[in-house]
Amino acid sequence: MIPIQPSEITPEHVYLSRRKLLAAMVALAASSLLAACSDAHTEPTALTVAGPLALEGTSTPPLPPLSSDRDELGAPLTPWEAITRYTNFYEFSTSKEGAARLARNFRTAPWTVEVGGLVARPRTFGLEDLYQFEQEERIYRMRCVEGWSMVIPWIGFPLARLLNKVEPLSQARYVRFETLYDPEQMPGQKSSFYPWPYVEGLRLDEAMHDLTILATGLYGRLLLPQNGAPLRLVVPWKYGFKSIKSIVRIDLVEEQPVSLWMAAAPKEYGFYANVNPQVPHPRWSQASERRIGEDRRIPTMLFNGYAEEVAHLYQPLDRREWYY
Ligand code: MTE
Repeated sequence: MIPIQPSEITPEHVYLSRRKLLAAMVALAASSLLAACSDAHTEPTALTVAGPLALEGTSTPPLPPLSSDRDELGAPLTPWEAITRYTNFYEFSTSKEGAARLARNFRTAPWTVEVGGLVARPRTFGLEDLYQFEQEERIYRMRCVEGWSMVIPWIGFPLARLLNKVEPLSQARYVRFETLYDPEQMPGQKSSFYPWPYVEGLRLDEAMHDLTILATGLYGRLLLPQNGAPLRLVVPWKYGFKSIKSIVRIDLVEEQPVSLWMAAAPKEYGFYANVNPQVPHPRWSQASERRIGEDRRIPTMLFNGYAEEVAHLYQPLDRREWYY
């Protein structure tokens, strides 16, 4: 994800032993950026699931228990340990495990999310308000633009339910999301390399799609800070960077928002970022991906396997704008 420094975008190094790292670097120099990378195995782990069930001082609803150990295509869930250790959260660190470590003491309560802009009823939602929405389990594939993927049993609720509460006005065409800006807690924000705060956006119809959720938990527990606690977006048919973490503001707007990645590297990242194996990133192929916890690579699917549900949003389908 980091513009300019290709060596840093290879994410897996934090999981590699030194010898594997050297082998990976040789392979990297040889050509393919991500194909040779592999991470140490984390074993599956219903037993090690250990996120909080509730936040102190906040009454949380009963979270639904895990309903399946596979996604609808039969792929096994990524182990809890991998999902919670191997994270991208640049506000804390550009290293995967560093982010999880540095986010450990992040204060996620009290928390408010302001929802406003072009709406009839602007409103500030506290945690208790967010937990009033019925929490559902959604098992989704997450495909990172860096070439790895996971299968994650999220807990959350459709973003549409929250947006309906504030009543978007007819001029509203896009939704803009913003992450907390707090350099004291988030050391990565002390670097001026990125135009903080992290911002993302969706077209209103994408935001209202039933697959688009606001997640409050995973594996039947509340989110840990490194996964975007207490509230993050999940848009499963787009590259993972669209799924913005630790949201404090949501605005309905008329103009297409400029995301952090569009501002940081406009030649590499556009607004839509829908997964498409046939459209390479300017610096690497997107044809395949490595499931975290597995060695083999698997073919990447158009819209990350959700084409039936979302392809109608993008007509004509061959417009390049949809896929970067
Ligand atoms: N949101 C914020 N605020 N900051 C980030 O660095 N990283 C994005 C996305 N949301 C990121 C973010 C990227 S690149 C990915 S792949 C996913 O979060 C990763 O989510 P996970 O760490 O929970 O797997």
